[in-house]
Amino acid sequence: MQVVSLSQPDDFDSWRDVARKLATAEVPADHVIWQMGNEAGDLLAGVATEVTEVAESAPFSVPRPFLDLARTAICHSDRERFSLLYAFLLRLRRAPELIQDRTDPMLRRLEALAKEVRRDIHKMRAFLRFREVDGEDGARFVAWYEPDHHIVRSNAGFFVNRFASMRWSILTPDVSLDWDGAMLREGPGAIRADAPEGDPVEEVWKTYYSSIFNPARLKVGAMLKEMPRKYWKNMPETALVPALIAGARARESAMVDASRAEIGANAAGAWEALREEASACTRCHLYKHATQTVFGDGPIDVPLMFVGEQPGDQEDLAGKPFVGPAGQVFNQALEQAGIDRARTYVTNAVKHFKFEQRGKRRIHSKPNGAEIEACRWWIEQERDVIRPQVTVALGATAARSMLGKVVTIGAARGQAHRLEDGGEGWVTVHPSFLLRIQDREQADAEFARFVEDLKRVWDRVAALTR
Ligand code: URA
Repeated sequence: MQVVSLSQPDDFDSWRDVARKLATAEVPADHVIWQMGNEAGDLLAGVATEVTEVAESAPFSVPRPFLDLARTAICHSDRERFSLLYAFLLRLRRAPELIQDRTDPMLRRLEALAKEVRRDIHKMRAFLRFREVDGEDGARFVAWYEPDHHIVRSNAGFFVNRFASMRWSILTPDVSLDWDGAMLREGPGAIRADAPEGDPVEEVWKTYYSSIFNPARLKVGAMLKEMPRKYWKNMPETALVPALIAGARARESAMVDASRAEIGANAAGAWEALREEASACTRCHLYKHATQTVFGDGPIDVPLMFVGEQPGDQEDLAGKPFVGPAGQVFNQALEQAGIDRARTYVTNAVKHFKFEQRGKRRIHSKPNGAEIEACRWWIEQERDVIRPQVTVALGATAARSMLGKVVTIGAARGQAHRLEDGGEGWVTVHPSFLLRIQDREQADAEFARFVEDLKRVWDRVAALTR
């Protein structure tokens, strides 16, 4: 038996280094015991063990989605996660295509672990509350939180971004974080009694909550769904809800302007927070079978946004929009139109891959109205942060999401549409439509038309940003 001791329960880098060496030496998964510190000591009494000393390994590569999956799954509290990941790594070395085999039980189990971790990360962001304590050098904010998994380090950046100007500590049973306004320090675990009693600091959350509250988007039902009633009593911002709703219409324009100014100043942080929130989205059922949320991609200070339909098989695995076959066509057309994709923001109307499993293949399935509607929440938030002058809907699903009604491409194409938030919307075909055309001549003609549409929107961008 080889025994590997890791010093942290979420120590992906050490796990990866050791796993790489063991895999190079072809050590079978059932010959390795992974432990935290010396935790397995007693269990190993009487078993012949050696501490792993394996020669430096020749580098070998694994598919990028596996690394992303492993980095997340390793934060799970399941004790078998290290060995499960190692066993899967060994198989993946021999058959890299395994990472796409949605029917593989081991891969499914790892994905289920990763999904639970993402949810736990989201819960901590939504439900952690600070209490104020007076220190010698002013106020500090302290929160006690008990996560289900080892997510505290992964979440640290989020709290630093959101509460950068406060001095705070987050205490948990395994680890504590301490931010002094400039530097983040990590300390040992704590107990509940180490944290102050008393009411949560309402102002911190109220300020945050009312700054993201946008009355133009007021949907009470959706709001209640986002914030289930059982949490209301512990959450100071809920006291604001009736007042916000009551005064919403009257204050609409002032608040929208204020929130725009706020968002403009914090766009990068707001976008990062959004993306993180979306990674745990359960607004419709599509999250259950997809690998991950595929959020928008690209710089956020750009005047042009493209909206596709939904991620495809490859996008679902890579976590980025338009990287598969439709993405190749899209890239070619952009190039011919003289548009640098790196200067645009690319996203989808629906953020999870919807598919039908046929054997080992996942066949794209069109999102329905309810799914498009559920996901509009995210795209509207993306538009709020990015505020593109021009948004281009690629295909009918994107057009429906952008315009809030069903339209045909034939009728909506070739004209500017005024959007609710004042931006300009354009509609054209989806690149995968071009891929489906069998007749060569027709395909070339449609491609050229697509390029013409793109040139036209680029001219609009130039005119609007002059
Ligand atoms: N099709 C889309 O609409 N979006 C993608 O990201 C990929 C394919």
